[in-house]
Amino acid sequence: MSIDNGVYDRIGSGWWDEDNPLNMLQGSMTPARFDYFASVMRDHGRSPDGLRGLDVGCGGGFMSERFARAGVTVLGIDPSEVSLATARKHAETNGLPIEYRTGFGEELPVDDQAFDIAFCCDVLEHVSDLDKVISETARALKPGGLYFFDTINRTWAANLLMIKLMQDWRFTRVFDTAIHDPTMFITPNELSEALRRNGFVVCEFVGLAPHTANPRIAIDFLRTRIGRLSFGEFSRRLHFGKTKSTAASYMGYAVRIAD
Ligand SMILES: C[S@@+](CC[C@H](N)C(=O)[O-])C[C@H]1O[C@@H](n2cnc3c(N)ncnc32)[C@H](O)[C@@H]1O
Repeated sequence: MSIDNGVYDRIGSGWWDEDNPLNMLQGSMTPARFDYFASVMRDHGRSPDGLRGLDVGCGGGFMSERFARAGVTVLGIDPSEVSLATARKHAETNGLPIEYRTGFGEELPVDDQAFDIAFCCDVLEHVSDLDKVISETARALKPGGLYFFDTINRTWAANLLMIKLMQDWRFTRVFDTAIHDPTMFITPNELSEALRRNGFVVCEFVGLAPHTANPRIAIDFLRTRIGRLSFGEFSRRLHFGKTKSTAASYMGYAVRIAD
């Protein structure tokens, strides 16, 4: 079954609702991703305050809001109008001056070299042209700009967790549609090559996974599946963080080189 990106319009009004499955990206995954990216910025001596940041595939604005709260001036781009409306409303309610624009990563509606940092979280495995998205991001970044990302590896473990458990098996699935297509998962090697081809120095890949022991995850997952636990609470209990293994999800960063 090919990927169904229409899901972000169908249920994208509920990104911030604890009972919406999209909220699983929020609980502990978003803090884990942001903490890692913030530590990279510190290592590179970059204070987020006053930087211009581009969120490619911003969805409901989870990562945009994290960066905005840290002082980054954020522009979020996404093809899903429903998700963007949700992101705008949430940012406005919380007094965050984030700009959101409709667009695709393959053709970013932004000027050349306009951003100090770019982030693209859980998006690269959704796009039709990976090279185009990365070359467009390179175009948008200033030389020396930092590119942060996370995506899903193409392994049996990712297939089991993200495809079989989450969307294929009738008694476990939380999405009744192809939120992912396993053929679009990306290995770290493939991503490295695509980054190098498009003007980046690849710096690091690390795993992004739960820090909770396995039996507890299974029980909480089943409770979530039958509506006893919210998706938001389930995600928080997973205690996502940086790990050594890149077998399922992984994150990393690259630096834009001068032309
Ligand atoms: C799993 S969500 C991730 C949302 C957000 N980055 C986060 O981590 O909370 C994937 C997002 O990618 C967007 N998307 C799909 N195809 C895209 C494309 N070609 N360019 C940019 N975004 C795209 C979807 O609309 C959706 O909002």
